[in-house]
Amino acid sequence: MKVAIASDHGGIKIREEIKQLMDELQIPYEDFGCECSTSVDYPDYALPVAEKVAQGEFDRGILICGTGIGMSIAANKVKGVRCALVHDVYSAKLTRQHNDSNVLAMGERVVGPGLAREIAQAWLTNEFEGGRHANRIGKIADYEGK
Ligand code: RB5
Repeated sequence: MKVAIASDHGGIKIREEIKQLMDELQIPYEDFGCECSTSVDYPDYALPVAEKVAQGEFDRGILICGTGIGMSIAANKVKGVRCALVHDVYSAKLTRQHNDSNVLAMGERVVGPGLAREIAQAWLTNEFEGGRHANRIGKIADYEGK
């Protein structure tokens, strides 16, 4: 599994925390910024990561901004992306098992680094259950025209 990760200026600390986690878990990743000390626009980071996941260049994406909301809205505009905005460990696990989410969004102004790490670990290590859930995801893909 290869992961693309990015944040805006509001998510830099958690981005670093999650990169450290992926180092520990020996999960390969690429960091797509931001290298920012000033305010940047979250779509400039969400859309490239989402496109890389949709095109199969990366298996998963992780996006962090202040709330996670802007990142998740932008990422979900890309066909084939199922971005889950998650701020608890239970949802992190279930969105992998039931939704096969391929992008995770979190808000650094919502969760601290410790919880963000647990959320990311649950999301990175749980697998899709398929079955009836695959049928449901198929209906979303049909709607997208894929
Ligand atoms: C930036 O101030 C903030 O709006 C952004 O990080 C994010 O929370 C948007 O959804």
